[in-house]
Amino acid sequence: MEIRELTADALADDDVVRQLYEVSRRAQLFGRESQPFWSFQEFAGALRSTDIGERQEVFAAYDGDRLVAGAILWSFLLDNTEKAWFELSVDVPDRRRGIGRALATRLEELARADGRTLILSDAKLPFDDREAHGYRRFAEACGYQLSNYEVVRHLPLPVPDDRIEEWIAEATPRLEGYTLHTYVDEMPADLVESLCVLLGQLGVDAPTGAVDFEEEAMTPERFAEMLERDTAMGRSRFETVALTPDRQVVAQSTLSVPRSGGTEVFQWGTFVHRQHRGHKLGLAAKAVNLRAVQSFRDDLTLVTTQNAETNGYMVSINERMGFRPVEVSAEFVKHL
Ligand SMILES: CC(C)(COP(=O)(O)OP(=O)(O)OC[C@H]1O[C@@H](n2cnc3c(N)ncnc32)[C@H](O)[C@@H]1OP(=O)(O)O)[C@@H](O)C(=O)NCCC(=O)NCCS
Repeated sequence: MEIRELTADALADDDVVRQLYEVSRRAQLFGRESQPFWSFQEFAGALRSTDIGERQEVFAAYDGDRLVAGAILWSFLLDNTEKAWFELSVDVPDRRRGIGRALATRLEELARADGRTLILSDAKLPFDDREAHGYRRFAEACGYQLSNYEVVRHLPLPVPDDRIEEWIAEATPRLEGYTLHTYVDEMPADLVESLCVLLGQLGVDAPTGAVDFEEEAMTPERFAEMLERDTAMGRSRFETVALTPDRQVVAQSTLSVPRSGGTEVFQWGTFVHRQHRGHKLGLAAKAVNLRAVQSFRDDLTLVTTQNAETNGYMVSINERMGFRPVEVSAEFVKHL
């Protein structure tokens, strides 16, 4: 078994990326085959995009010419610079041969050499086996501790229009002084800066278990890169924002929607500015965004989201909207 770094040249090769995709898909969906997963275009588009806020390094393990495992290491560059995050996928027939441990060790060496003190990863687990599942045992065998549980929830689509209107009507009396607007794949230039402040604070205010995250340095330049990445992935970004009369963005909610083909929508962040909480802006932004998404495509099948179990406020909105728990995302950390 040999570990190779996949350089930008290798990642420009569709055959290499296809092999990495197939291994990742089999590994990540094993035992949870009906869960959403990236299409090839989405996977390749994300892998080939840049983010000035993160360095991405991609590795593959080969048995002869056969790609048997893949790993991606993301090292934050503008904030949280003591941390690195990775994703690791070992093909199903090639497990328990030490490949996972060898790849994790390689990533840890790189992170340590780069001055990082914390390395993190996650795994999706069934509720009833979250304490004893093999992926958790793997993480512990490699010296990781559980840092957080997030619950993954799904909302079946379509949601009847009158239910969405009910949520909006419930929020409306509390929304005086705010206006809600939805933008798709673009954002008026004067709104980007205050939107970026909210996007950067999400990781601080959303509970993240045993590991704290500092505010993310979200800049207009990074936001533009995010829009480019969505385009490369063939997805549309629906951003609903709440504005004050002087056009400050004080709440936002993002849904990522396949432009064609796939039918699964991802809920990214929802965030209400600290000084503007208690006005039902979270429910209103989510409901208005969902209404816009459903009028864009009427064949979508579900929205998927995940939150820390301790994020009572967000979880109560999601349950109110009909999201149902599906599985757990367990997050692991190792102090280097
Ligand atoms: C978790 C995963 C990466 C393990 O890869 P792997 O190549 O099978 O792992 P290794 O062979 O290096 O295992 C190292 C040790 O971890 C433990 N371990 C690994 N898989 C295990 C399992 N299913 N049950 C119990 N212990 C397990 C064992 O102690 C093992 O040592 P041993 O085989 O000598 O007993 C792989 O199953 C996978 O790709 N899972 C899906 C994606 C994922 O969850 N990745 C992130 C996990 S943090």
